[in-house]
Amino acid sequence: MLKSAAVDWAHLAEFIQKPLATACIAPSSPHLARMMVEHAGLADADTVLEYGPGTGVLTGHILRELGPQSKFAAIEINPRFAAMFQAAFPYVPLFQDSVENVRAICDSMEFATVDRVISGLPWAFFPESRQITFLDEMMRVLRPGGRFVTFGYLQSLALPGARRLAALLPTYFTTVSRSPIVWMNFPPAFVHSCRR
Ligand SMILES: C[S@@+](CC[C@H](N)C(=O)[O-])C[C@H]1O[C@@H](n2cnc3c(N)ncnc32)[C@H](O)[C@@H]1O
Repeated sequence: MLKSAAVDWAHLAEFIQKPLATACIAPSSPHLARMMVEHAGLADADTVLEYGPGTGVLTGHILRELGPQSKFAAIEINPRFAAMFQAAFPYVPLFQDSVENVRAICDSMEFATVDRVISGLPWAFFPESRQITFLDEMMRVLRPGGRFVTFGYLQSLALPGARRLAALLPTYFTTVSRSPIVWMNFPPAFVHSCRR
């Protein structure tokens, strides 16, 4: 039984109220979480950010892979998810804010640059202007050689936003790849893996 396919009332309620910002009715499955973490290659990362952690389903997988020297923070815009995240991970720095403020957030954490950005944002649902703003702001913190990983849903590949993102990524990153489909996720998903 695919665990994440079980009804998750918090995600469903937020999806009904804010469908385009939430964009998921169920949290990511452990299969997708493992694929994300594998592509991020966290063992040698000193500074890691998570974008849009929701209630923190990827976060546990990320924290398990971080080295003892690694520093980590998460940025979640939704106040309800942020509160649930903080209850689950009371010692993890969580900024209830938008990722477009990532430079100021890094300054407050004393992160000059970051090595990895692991994103759960619903990029395909964002207008192009927001995709560009978020990527431009990410470039102000991601170090050269740093990695950005994010997932997309199979059914959203048909959306103009997904096609725009796929066209934008190679203009920001030197290598961009897409994983095979993770069928054990609801909905099925894939991982974009990018190196600056
Ligand atoms: C598709 S859900 C993913 C949640 C979780 N990471 C997972 O994998 O199940 C997208 C998340 O991105 C958050 N989000 C959307 N726009 C955001 C923004 N501008 N800044 C920070 N978080 C944002 C939403 O509130 C939501 O928690």
